[in-house]
Amino acid sequence: MAPPRRRFAERYRDVLASIYLYNEHRGYTSLDRVLEAVRARCPDDTAFIAAVEKHRADERKHYLMFRRYFEREGRMPLAVDRSCGHIDHFIRIAFGRSIEELDTRAVVADGALFERLCRVIMLTEQRGMRQVDILLRSKVVLADPALKDIFKVVERDEPSHWMPYRDWLTRNRRPQPRWRERLTDLRIHRELMFVRLPAIFLNRRVPRRSSWPDEADGGDTALISAPPEAIA
Ligand SMILES: [Fe+2]
Ligand SMILES: [Fe+2]
Repeated sequence: MAPPRRRFAERYRDVLASIYLYNEHRGYTSLDRVLEAVRARCPDDTAFIAAVEKHRADERKHYLMFRRYFEREGRMPLAVDRSCGHIDHFIRIAFGRSIEELDTRAVVADGALFERLCRVIMLTEQRGMRQVDILLRSKVVLADPALKDIFKVVERDEPSHWMPYRDWLTRNRRPQPRWRERLTDLRIHRELMFVRLPAIFLNRRVPRRSSWPDEADGGDTALISAPPEAIA
């Protein structure tokens, strides 16, 4: 049996990568809804639409990198659910409903809802950027070259994920994230890191997924598929 320190590191990476895989998948599938709203709300803002399309493509690329990671490890990810999804919690708190229940037409029709959605995505992505910086200083992550390489790609992509939403808010003279929204983001993050992650880490009965989340996508409609070097 491996020494305790090694078992701890392996379990931590397993849980971390499972949570990331869930969030990356949730990210790009939710961005399909966002894209729908952006195209309808700002049909002439081609730069903004292109930035959201790139964002969606990047999140799918990240998802595929984590999927490839597990495939190489020869096991399926742990079956974490939406209780581990940052965006799931944020949308639920900000809009009072789940991502699936979000009424895209209402978001398109109501400027206040649309800008709130932009702020929620912006804060979620900024959180992701700060988190990846922390992970890239973690010895447990750095000890696994494949995981380190994945987080390096995520680190490189992350700034381009929140900046377009900030720029859109600035261009349209709409408020940047409010202190209440920033507090919500912090609360969600803390709960994920200090409650959800340790709970999964300690619970050896959490099952593994029996299929990949993208198998339920009904055939991916990715605008740009992952470049081969990113998932090689
Ligand atoms: Fe991502
Ligand atoms: Fe991102």
